[in-house]
Amino acid sequence: MRVAYEPRLRLWLLTGTSTAYAVRLDADDCVRHVHWGAPVTVEEAAALVGQEPPDPAASSFEEKAGADELPVEGGAHFGPAALQVRWADLGRGIEWKYLGHEIVEDAHLRIDLADRHYPLTVKLHYRMRGDVVERWTEVTNTGHEPVTLQRCDSAAWTVPAGPRRLSHLVGAWNSEFRLRRGELAAAETVLTSRRGLTSHHANPWLALDDGTAGEEHGEVWSTALAWSGSWRVTVQRDPGGRTGWTGGFGHEGLTWTLTAGETLRTPVFAGVYSTAGFGGVSRTWHAYIRANILPHPEELRPVLYNSWEATHFDVDEAGQIALARRAAEVGAEMFVMDDGWFGRRANERKGLGDWTPNPERFPHGLTNLVAAVRQSGMKFGIWVEPEMVNPDSDLYREHPDWVLHTANRRRTEMRHQLVLNLARPDVRDWTHAWLDRLVGEHGIDFLKWDCNRPFTEAGWPGHADPDRVYLDHTRAVHQIMDRLRAGHPGLRIESCAGGGGRADLGILARTDQVWPSDNTDPIDRIAIQNGFAQVFPAQVMGAWVTDSPNVTTARSTPLRFRFHVSMAGVLGLGGDLTTWTPDELEEAADLVREYKRVRPVVQHGTAYRLTGAGTLTGVQYTLNDDHVILAWLPSRPYGHTPGPLPLSAVEAGAVYRDLDTGRTYQGAVLQEKGLPLDMPAGDHASALVRLTRLP
Ligand code: GLA
Repeated sequence: MRVAYEPRLRLWLLTGTSTAYAVRLDADDCVRHVHWGAPVTVEEAAALVGQEPPDPAASSFEEKAGADELPVEGGAHFGPAALQVRWADLGRGIEWKYLGHEIVEDAHLRIDLADRHYPLTVKLHYRMRGDVVERWTEVTNTGHEPVTLQRCDSAAWTVPAGPRRLSHLVGAWNSEFRLRRGELAAAETVLTSRRGLTSHHANPWLALDDGTAGEEHGEVWSTALAWSGSWRVTVQRDPGGRTGWTGGFGHEGLTWTLTAGETLRTPVFAGVYSTAGFGGVSRTWHAYIRANILPHPEELRPVLYNSWEATHFDVDEAGQIALARRAAEVGAEMFVMDDGWFGRRANERKGLGDWTPNPERFPHGLTNLVAAVRQSGMKFGIWVEPEMVNPDSDLYREHPDWVLHTANRRRTEMRHQLVLNLARPDVRDWTHAWLDRLVGEHGIDFLKWDCNRPFTEAGWPGHADPDRVYLDHTRAVHQIMDRLRAGHPGLRIESCAGGGGRADLGILARTDQVWPSDNTDPIDRIAIQNGFAQVFPAQVMGAWVTDSPNVTTARSTPLRFRFHVSMAGVLGLGGDLTTWTPDELEEAADLVREYKRVRPVVQHGTAYRLTGAGTLTGVQYTLNDDHVILAWLPSRPYGHTPGPLPLSAVEAGAVYRDLDTGRTYQGAVLQEKGLPLDMPAGDHASALVRLTRLP
């Protein structure tokens, strides 16, 4: 991996493992896109630039010129601006002046630019990590007067011309990460969150292809933003066929003031190019997240038990200890007590913000429960929602000004709660202090960090630059997590936001797993997990087995099916184990044992999505010579049996043995025809197969 510079054309080429990215400076000092795709030499990149400089008089000027790497307002730019500035004299726009560049390290390039007239410098960063290009922008006000930023994106991306198909993730509470794939309109398409959170409704991930890519073949370009607050990505497909997108933090209408000397640094916007289809793109994301984002990728995530679906707010010492004993018998390695343990939190209307154990429910504080959990051989985790407060709480009565609010406006409650303004240093420090105390006092192993509502009336009365709250609150969440982890190196954190409302590359740099959805119905979960896994690896995908019928959908499914769906990620248990029959508990214990056997392959292996006939889908995890195949058949219309499941990650010349039955299979047959599955009759059938490649 390296950065090459070609001075004649003022062209830079970044080379990854099997990707290259090239940009150049035009005569106007504007950084133009040259190439993002297969590896090329400097000479080839130079040839891509074309011989003639663009003719500004030509009507096709925009198409010929090559897209801007950071399109600004000003000049003949009519697409969405990545950088929009209003100067102190109320003038607008930018004219570029090149200052220089630095190859900061082997694979990290920084291009330094400034405005020709006004005091602003802009640094474009490019860093190649494996096959992922990381990009971000730093903007500095070098003058004496404030400068208003109306948009400050991390990067703009361009793909070669051609018909374009967009893949992205949509959802809502209980239905997150639903994959959508369709033709991009010849227009601007905005993917965004205005909620102050990454959001359930859209995720800052997307993929583009020419309409012919498949799961294992074809060129795909994909990006993901490392930001956990409001964001916007605008994809533009012009009628001439050119497609690009710009994205970064904040939604439209927010402005940020840069005071004299101040620098704003955007989050990383990362990009992947793959010739191995959507599966190839996902595997590149997974590898990148493991190698560069997660704090502890090498650790196997424990099988956890979570009390939420069993007890809801009805939490007390005796009840939790009883659940913990059951959980340990079934094989759980960590017990997580969910909501309801603190203040007067008997329901969702009160108590949030009062983070001391409820004395009636926990007469010994958490001490007895933590001791009982540890005696059962498990770690102890606990639910917190640090950014939130119920108006009916001591905290709010004492500090009504601590919440996000705007003068002359009502404070909109959602789930009977308001959002604390963590951008305020006093609120941030208070939040860190109580979390630090809680974790320290009990040696807590795991926090389920929840966040159950979006921002509304997100003002900051008295602050000179109130929209900062959208940046600084999110940064404060990141900082508090970082500080807690630094102070408690054994602490692990789960990111939850009413289910999967906060899953992104930013939060994953300080958390260990994500709760993708409050919907634990295994049928719905197959789709949710499929969307989640487009970008995030199995080792961060929390997946509980809960009761049947399911609390959300009232659908009944066999225990085995529920387990097989959850085994595709970080297996957990979330049902009311006190109501499970001895047979169910025994079967569950067997399945937990089975999961622990396959866990290294699932959590540390490479994932290949599989599709069979009818409703049959699955996933194959491979690690060295070991393969784990999980297959699910939600329904069997007309009683048809689906037939074998073709495997993607097998070699044609190799032979594979089923570790449970001893049967052997030719790789070519597994590829062509598929793996025969021993599934029970009827709907909700599933299978788990362990194969090893024979030497
Ligand atoms: C959110 C979470 C749930 C649970 C509840 C508790 O909805 O996603 O898992 O923790 O809050 O109130």
